[in-house]
Amino acid sequence: MLKTTYRTHHLKELTKKDAGKQVTLCGWVNRRRDHGGLIFIDLRDRFGITQIVFDPTIDQNAHQEADRLRSEWVISVSGKVRNRAEGMTNPNLFTGEIEVEITSLTVESTCPTPPFSIADEKIDVQEELRGKYRYLDIRRKEIKDILLMRSKATNIIRSYLTDLEFAEVETPILTKSTPEGARDYVVPSRVHPHHFYALPQSPQIYKQLLMISGMDRYFQIARCFRDEDLRADRQPEFTQVDIEMSFNSQEDIISMTEGLYKKLWKECKGIDLNQPFDRYSHNDCMEKYGTDRPDLRFGMEFINVEEIAKRSSFSIFHSALEQQHIIRAICVPNGSKLSRREIDELTTFTRQFGLAGLAWMKHSDEGLTSNIVKFFDESCQEDLISTCDSKTGDLILFAAAKKDVVQQALDHLRRHIADKMNLIDKDELQFLWVTDFPLFELDKDTKQLTSVHHPFTSPLKEDIPLLDSDPLKVRSNAYDLVLNGAELGGGSIRIHSSDLQKKIFGLLNLSEEEIEEKFGFLTKALTYGAPPHGGIAFGLDRIMMLLTNAASIKDVIAFPKTQKAADLMMDCPSIVSNKQLEELFIEKRKLLAIK
Ligand code: AMO
Repeated sequence: MLKTTYRTHHLKELTKKDAGKQVTLCGWVNRRRDHGGLIFIDLRDRFGITQIVFDPTIDQNAHQEADRLRSEWVISVSGKVRNRAEGMTNPNLFTGEIEVEITSLTVESTCPTPPFSIADEKIDVQEELRGKYRYLDIRRKEIKDILLMRSKATNIIRSYLTDLEFAEVETPILTKSTPEGARDYVVPSRVHPHHFYALPQSPQIYKQLLMISGMDRYFQIARCFRDEDLRADRQPEFTQVDIEMSFNSQEDIISMTEGLYKKLWKECKGIDLNQPFDRYSHNDCMEKYGTDRPDLRFGMEFINVEEIAKRSSFSIFHSALEQQHIIRAICVPNGSKLSRREIDELTTFTRQFGLAGLAWMKHSDEGLTSNIVKFFDESCQEDLISTCDSKTGDLILFAAAKKDVVQQALDHLRRHIADKMNLIDKDELQFLWVTDFPLFELDKDTKQLTSVHHPFTSPLKEDIPLLDSDPLKVRSNAYDLVLNGAELGGGSIRIHSSDLQKKIFGLLNLSEEEIEEKFGFLTKALTYGAPPHGGIAFGLDRIMMLLTNAASIKDVIAFPKTQKAADLMMDCPSIVSNKQLEELFIEKRKLLAIK
């Protein structure tokens, strides 16, 4: 135990064996009760709660002083530990068998009535209020326990990686913008007028440079900054567990990662994960689930029913096929119980993703029923039932449209139905690796090639010839780890040849001058003996959300930002003084014009 000047015990330490001991305790008044002249206080600190008693027959002064105490005041008390009377023990408290009779009380701080209850386990309070008084929110057990779990998890990660001879190296926060796909946060330079630093979106290039430096195995619990639209699992500043290794294969990264997750879930939750994790190629994933981060806790994979559609007389399906559209079905377990209105609602739901309609058939004791069944003869119906593996009581839903529309609409629909029909087992953990991502995709606006991961990802060796002839067909050495529909992390084996790196930049439409200006330091470094290398980065905040079942990423970060990237407690971002602006060569006039 760490000894401190003020107190002899934290509140989790006292048990029956301490009866008769003289102790000094410090903490916050959690609750106070007056009973027949006695004052009982639940004293709280980070470690727990202990009941203390002020008895006028034991110490009249202390009892009188205790009368003033209110919730959240900070006090130091001394007294004697005693066993609680028969029938008065509290099995929910670690210290529930004892109480402390107080002979000395010092009020260290008072506190106005807090804006919300700290003592209650569940509170129903607006997020803004919690954000504004985050220091009080963290006093609540729910948030405190999450932060302590986060501290434990980071220690586990550090010790796992350090045992495997990874070296922890810090990389700069004031840096040059690297292309990770989001907007940069930029910082104006005072010393270099009109020049800016960028805050790192990730330490990607630095970790690759460390491999060229011969560090061999690197990790960092790294802060990253991205100016992007925020969601329940996105923050403008977040933390990555960032990892890079030299002379390794994709398999090495995968097995190192699986070991890390095994240890994390065992030591934080006592759960033995099933390993190895499932793997899907990107292509299979898109075909089956329409997304590269599918939630596998419920079935409803997409089923290709085009052959049966061809044999039917349903003209909508025929015209879809003529237009080179695709037709996919999903089979909803026990979906027949949905009413006509509920099915109509599903159709409306998919409209926002561009799907014009949703055809359906219920599977009842008499077979398939719906207004379109008449277009499917008996053999078509039998084939539908077997292809969709439909059971009596199920509902088959059909989508026919362009491939990307069907994939997006059915992906959302699948999750919507699982949620609506309670098909998700909240305790289930479905990890999976997604591999063989395409190297490039077409930017919707510019119609130019962009990287699916980032431009430092290597192409599969066998696909290199396609770089010139059909770049969109080139697959990459990239892999993502997904858990229950959330992307936990992603990485790749990197390009370690300067020429290949330049070629990729060229395909990404960078001119030779731009390559030199933006990445000259990297293409040069790659000529100085670069080892083959690769790595991965995990979103620590997302890991913590899954380890603690938190609904929002804000709950797992000590001082998070709002949906609008603001810190309500500090009231930031904020206006700075004219003097600061002048020093940074930013004209006040222009700023005001923007406002
Ligand atoms: P990527 O951009 O996929 O890869 O990021 C890795 C992981 O970081 C988490 N993440 C976020 N978490 C919270 N808020 C955000 N705004 C946010 N953005 C990303 C996700 C994601 O999977 N340098 C590469 C990794 C590499 O190639 O090694 C990178 O940053 O969990």
